[in-house]
Amino acid sequence: MGGGIAILPTGPEVSRNRDNHYAFRYDSDFFYLTGFTEANAWLVLIAGETDRSILFCEPKDALMETWTGKRWGPTAAAEHFEFDQAFAVNELDTQIPLLMTGLKNLFANTSRSRSPQYLTQLHGWLSTARTTLRGTRATPTQWLDIGEPLSEMRLVKDAHELDTMRRAAAISALGHIRAMQTAQPGRHEYELEAELLYVFRKNGAQSVAYDSIVAAGGNACTLHYRAGNTVMRDGDLVLIDAGCELDGYASDITRTFPANGRFSAAQCALYEIVLAAQRAATACVSPAHHWNAAHEAAVRVLTQGLLDEKLLTGSLEKNIETESFKRFYMHRTGHWLGMDVHDVGDYRTPPADSGERAWRALSPGMVLTIEPGLYVTPAPDVPEIFWNIGIRIEDDAVVTQHGCELISRGVPVEIRDIEGLMQQSD
Ligand code: GLY
Ligand code: MN
Ligand code: MN
Repeated sequence: MGGGIAILPTGPEVSRNRDNHYAFRYDSDFFYLTGFTEANAWLVLIAGETDRSILFCEPKDALMETWTGKRWGPTAAAEHFEFDQAFAVNELDTQIPLLMTGLKNLFANTSRSRSPQYLTQLHGWLSTARTTLRGTRATPTQWLDIGEPLSEMRLVKDAHELDTMRRAAAISALGHIRAMQTAQPGRHEYELEAELLYVFRKNGAQSVAYDSIVAAGGNACTLHYRAGNTVMRDGDLVLIDAGCELDGYASDITRTFPANGRFSAAQCALYEIVLAAQRAATACVSPAHHWNAAHEAAVRVLTQGLLDEKLLTGSLEKNIETESFKRFYMHRTGHWLGMDVHDVGDYRTPPADSGERAWRALSPGMVLTIEPGLYVTPAPDVPEIFWNIGIRIEDDAVVTQHGCELISRGVPVEIRDIEGLMQQSD
């Protein structure tokens, strides 16, 4: 006996309050394998005597569809999405035990599923298969995680995925431009969030890829700040970290600009350090480099800049070694980007014999962010001109044969270009 069966659910509808749900977002792995966007569906893949793909989805129901919208139903879904078979989702309990028999391996998305119910269901189906079939046919004995191979597949994007990601990044860049042009002292963070959302939806993006960060002044030093109701003041920097999701793919851009359209000397000084760090990091995004090279390059430039501005003292090497820069730069320089904004994929290679895991080499088709920053909270040992300056510059990069392509540069990043753009504000 060999072969296997993979069983993957999509995400559930999630209650927001009373009979009102959050906007449904399918599970990324499920969508990657199916293209199917309805809730309450399952994918079963069988590798056996004949390989088969099987969908379980909501059945047609004229009354329910009047309230909640059209459903594909199993017959039309099988035809349109090219599954070999499809069943109504209420047939899971009868069909899955039958489908698992005669197969050795059960592949489940155990590493990523957040549903305790999922494992209970899998155990239940296995148990039904064992008891009702009473040993006439074997059932899976080996339980394997499908998350890891799926992550490896998702990590390297194909041409279609890259095209979608380029379009997502272009829309997000337009959103940033509009937000910059709308900003001025006296406006609220939430007003810029609204401009971003307007541009994202106006251009066909289904959603934000994550809640937009619009942070005025010292709010930018809170890394996971959400757009709130703070008023932008003359002299504040504004940090916007926002990206849309288009057809299942995320974009993730950060720009930092002055509310009044002109960087102060202190803001310029720190901004140029972050921009130089981003340039240095970008030069290390290529198949000739490993994952961490960009971070190491960014840390070096940021730390030197902090020394130059007297925010740190001592030697460059010592400050890097002791990680004293973390007081002002406490996050990493990037992450994989794809269907999830912090996308799946290992950052290291499988364990070597020594047990050490080296940083993995970059390959064409991988997509990552490059996002150095500096964050200065008020403190007696820090010159006051730097207080409450939070700067991050984030772009999305596709690894190419010899380097990388920044797909999010539809929005300017140089000081003179940002100031020029803000002169053309509404
Ligand atoms: N927007 C989330 C991040 O930059 O990682
Ligand atoms: Mn990011
Ligand atoms: Mn971001």
